[in-house]
Formats: sequence, structure tokens, C-alpha cells
Amino acid sequence: MSTSSVSEAGSADQQQRILNVLRMACAEAIRRPDFAERLQDMKQKFYVRDFDGIFLDPTNLSVYTAQYVPRRALCYYEIFSRPELQDILATCPTIYCLGAGSGSELVAISAASKCAPGAANASSSARPITIHSQDYTDWSPILTTLEDTIRYKWGIGARQVKYEFSLGNLLQMSLDIEHNISSSQLVTAMFIFNELFSDKANAMNFVKTIVKCVAPGGYFLLVDSAGSFSSIQINGKSYMSYMFFDSLSKHFTPVISEDSTWFRHAPNLEYPLGVENMRYFIRLYRKTEAALLTEYELIRNEVKKMGGLIAEINEEELDALTQSMRAVEQKLALVYTVFRSSIYAHLSQQEASGQAQDPGSAFGEPFQTNCPPFD
Ligand SMILES: C[S@@+](CC[C@H](N)C(=O)[O-])C[C@H]1O[C@@H](n2cnc3c(N)ncnc32)[C@H](O)[C@@H]1O
Repeated sequence: MSTSSVSEAGSADQQQRILNVLRMACAEAIRRPDFAERLQDMKQKFYVRDFDGIFLDPTNLSVYTAQYVPRRALCYYEIFSRPELQDILATCPTIYCLGAGSGSELVAISAASKCAPGAANASSSARPITIHSQDYTDWSPILTTLEDTIRYKWGIGARQVKYEFSLGNLLQMSLDIEHNISSSQLVTAMFIFNELFSDKANAMNFVKTIVKCVAPGGYFLLVDSAGSFSSIQINGKSYMSYMFFDSLSKHFTPVISEDSTWFRHAPNLEYPLGVENMRYFIRLYRKTEAALLTEYELIRNEVKKMGGLIAEINEEELDALTQSMRAVEQKLALVYTVFRSSIYAHLSQQEASGQAQDPGSAFGEPFQTNCPPFD
């Protein structure tokens, strides 16, 4: 597990383009006379972890997006520009983004998809990338504004990226959510674990659902703050959310695994509000293929059986077994002697008729053996 100090995504130009979309889409929210008051209220609620108080109040949502999405969109753009995620984007996947109503994932993935080889290129892609944002509160007016702005400013058409939104509470798992998880090639959980772990029992149920439902061969991307605010207390011990998934190595293979990475945006970017840098942890897991798991189980059972058999063999049987192996060994030596004699007979014949070359090349290639010398 690595700890990176700095990661800067692309050029300042690309970062500025992302902020330009947000500046346009959030212009009305930023002009709201109660902006500062709403923000202050949300900060206090964050402090006491009253997440429902923040997100279930619709008057907070546009202020939240204007204030918090810029830094995340820049950081997630850096994440989705990494080669491992670009390779996934190039397959034109369906990406199911959990707790993603505020729009960071939508903006970042749209921006990164523009450079995915063959993905958001209308002429070469057979189907669009689908970005499905999921949330428990209705962010659709904000997401629609973001989509329209992205299509307008970046010229991304419906044949390149398709946007979907659905409502659902991750703490009350439904068949719809399970179906969406299992039918997506990439599932993301970015900065949502603090919210979910306000209800520990149901949050553990959510973890189980992810393990059960991510499709074999599919990916699960987990990103959250690397700070202590993200640690989860269970029976007096602190855990980071990635520890649950790291411990399931039979089901999830980590493709990217970093415990602490700084995202620092380019200097001198223009946005009407301050844009902070952020420190995050990241895990990109791949769900183990079902076939591999079955194979693994078979081998494990065979090895167990062999262990049992070996334990059952007593000293007497071991002696008899060694004797019969010795007989086989002697017979093999005899076969080898006969074989070697016939080669010499063949070579002598050739020599007598004047055709002999290098003795070892009688078989067309250097004649080598691992058999021990028998004389
Ligand atoms: C800290 S924000 C992160 C938003 C986004 N993923 C990002 O990184 O910018 C947490 C998000 O989770 C959503 N959320 C909170 N509890 C949820 C739940 N039980 N089910 C689904 N979404 C939830 C909130 O509405 C909010 O959009």
C-alpha cells in the first residue's frame, strides 16, 4: 500500500475547463442571498455528523454542489485519468455511482471519458458510456443542469455519454439497487461511507451487498477522505472502510491501493469560491471471476483430501510404496539403456555408410537428457 504525496491531473487548462462548467451550472446558487448562511449551517451539521439534516433539506443541495463539488470533480478527474480507469472507460461501461447526486462523479467521468481511447469518440464507439448517478435524495434538477452544461460546453452527445439518475436508500437495500450493481461494469462509492456508517448495522449490510452483487470480473471503486474523520468505530476499535474489502481478498483483487494520496490542483484556477486541495485513499478492486473461485475451491478440496490421505498412510504402507517405486525406477533405467543402445546402433550404421555428423544431432536438435548416467 503506497502513500503518494502529490498528484496533479492533466494540465491547468483541463482543470479550468471543469471549473468553467461548474461555474456556469452553479451561477444561480452562488448568487443566492442565503448562500453563506446555508453553508455555515451545513458545516455545523457536518461537525456533528448530522448528514440527513444536510442532504434531506432540498434548500441545501445547490449550495452543496457549488461549494464542495469543484474540488472533488478535479480530484476524481485525476482518478479517472489513471491508466487503470482509462482502460475501463475504453470498454464503454455502465458506471453505477452510489451516493453521487451532487454531481462530482458525473462531471469528472464525463471529462475523463473525452480522453478514453475509443470511448467518448462518436465515430468509433459502438455504444455510449452510461453514468448512472444514484442517491437517496432528489438531486435531479442539479444533475440536469450539469448535464446540459457539459453537453453544451464540451460537445458530448448522447451517443457518447448517457446520463441516468435513480433514487434509493443504500441503507435499505432494494432489488433495484442490487440489480443495478450486478449489471454495471464499474460501481463507485466515493465519499459516502461516513454517511452510511451513521447506521452501522445497515452499513454492514451494504458492504455485504457490494460483495455479493458486483459482477464477476467487474470493478468496485472506493474513494474517501484519508483523514481520521473517515475512521469508523466498531466495538471500541477504529477501522477505515477499505479494511472491510481488503480483508475479502478471495472476492476482491486490488488493482489500485493507496492509503493516502494528496490531490493538489493547479495554481491560479478561476472559480468564484475557494477550491481546496484534498487527501484521499483509493481502492480499485476487481471482483474475482466465478470460474476462478470454483477452480480455487476444487484445488483447495483436492489438497485437503491429499493431506488426509498422507496422514492416513502408516509406516508399513510407506515401506511397501517405496519398494514398488524403486521397482518402477529400475525398469525405467532398463528402458533407457535399451533406448540408448539403439541410438548407438543407428549412429554406427550411419558412420559405416559415411553419413555420420555430430552424434547429438541424430534427432535434428541437440540431444539432451535429464536421466542420470547409468554406467
Ligand atoms: C459527502 S456526499 C458525496 C457526494 C459525491 N459522491 C461526491 O463524492 O461528491 C454524500 C452523498 O451521499 C448521499 N447519501 C447519504 N446517505 C445516503 C443513503 N443512505 N443512500 C444513498 N445516498 C446517500 C447524499 O445525498 C450525498 O449526495
